[in-house]
Amino acid sequence: MARILVTGGCGFIGSNFVRMLLAERPDWEVVNLDKLTYAGRLENLADVAGDPRYRLVKGDICDPGVVREAMAGCRMAVNFAAETHVDRSLLGAGHFIDTDMKGVLVLLEEARRVGIERFVQISTDEVYGSIAEGSFDEGCVLNPRNPYAASKAGGDRLAFAYWATYGVPVVITRASNNYGPYQYPEKLIPLFATNALRDESLPLYGDGRNVRDWLHVSDHCRAVLFVLENGSNGEVYNIAGGNERENIAITREVLRLLGKPEKLIRPVDDRVGHDRRYSLDASKLGRLGWAPRVVFEAGLADTVRWYAENEAWWRPIKDHDGEFRRYYEEQYGARLK
Ligand code: NAD
Ligand code: DAU
Repeated sequence: MARILVTGGCGFIGSNFVRMLLAERPDWEVVNLDKLTYAGRLENLADVAGDPRYRLVKGDICDPGVVREAMAGCRMAVNFAAETHVDRSLLGAGHFIDTDMKGVLVLLEEARRVGIERFVQISTDEVYGSIAEGSFDEGCVLNPRNPYAASKAGGDRLAFAYWATYGVPVVITRASNNYGPYQYPEKLIPLFATNALRDESLPLYGDGRNVRDWLHVSDHCRAVLFVLENGSNGEVYNIAGGNERENIAITREVLRLLGKPEKLIRPVDDRVGHDRRYSLDASKLGRLGWAPRVVFEAGLADTVRWYAENEAWWRPIKDHDGEFRRYYEEQYGARLK
């Protein structure tokens, strides 16, 4: 048995990754270290919680004692744990600096101490900043433009520094916007799908013409596993869906799929410092042999159907989670008045 540490495994991408590992690597044990913040949900992995090859450690990646316990006996580690929502980072960035930078440091120190064989740092395309034309490749200068992106760039470069300085076998991935099941309903697609299902307004920022490149979470998880097993130490790999769309197009398609009227769209005050367009050149990973499989239109239809069929997953968050309601009021209250 090989043991792997996955941090942030109760979140959106982490839970999809843990489920995939348990299914596709029958001789691996998975330790999931998760703080269970507002975004970490036990229900995301309820179906595999009883698997004898799976163990949850509830704790903070910033806590060296907890990290030592969780990483014990692990040959590999993948760090998904992070504060991830740009809008929340604009309301206060303290937790972002803690988890996305200091937490990475604690993990890297322990990885160095135990002599880990592979450490994958999950970074993001946001570290490059916005690009009007063309696409960023891995050699481009980093230009993060919001506190979330800046904290992720810090973690990204710290991971590289542990390779360059101490030889910790680090690989870094930078993926584009993910979509799919179990995404916390604060992000564009799950927020708009669940609002539309209840005939509530869809608060579209600015002119709605910002562009994101959408990557199905299953494709992202396959890419992370591919890089874990085939990447080279010290290298960065962009992971892109190849599906650049304006937000207004995504919004209209979500409404069309649900049979809801476009009058639900509410143009609202823009996100401050809103990056106009993200775009990645992912040919490096392509040359290594990975390609996305999910066709965007089909993936979006499946995703919207998943939220329609899984109200029992999102309704308690939106209706009964005081934290979500407080955040929604702070973020959208004045915008929607
Ligand atoms: P998420 O917000 O859904 O989940 C984050 C998880 O990390 C939660 O389970 C949370 O409890 C856990 N966590 C937070 N702080 C922690 C701490 N201090 N210690 C331990 N656990 C902690 O996030 P996601 O969307 O699944 O993103 C996962 C990773 O992928 C992040 O590193 C993010 O930056 C990166 N990423 C996300 C996207 C995207 O579109 N969602 C795209 C590119 C990269
Ligand atoms: O690009 C990768 C990044 O994608 C990840 O690193 C982040 O963790 C992830 O949250 C995501 O960041 P974005 O800011 O791109 O995602 P979000 O879903 O918040 O917003 C997508 C676009 O939709 C963005 O242009 C802002 C817009 N938007 C979003 C929300 C929540 C709206 O117009 N209205 C909204 O209410």
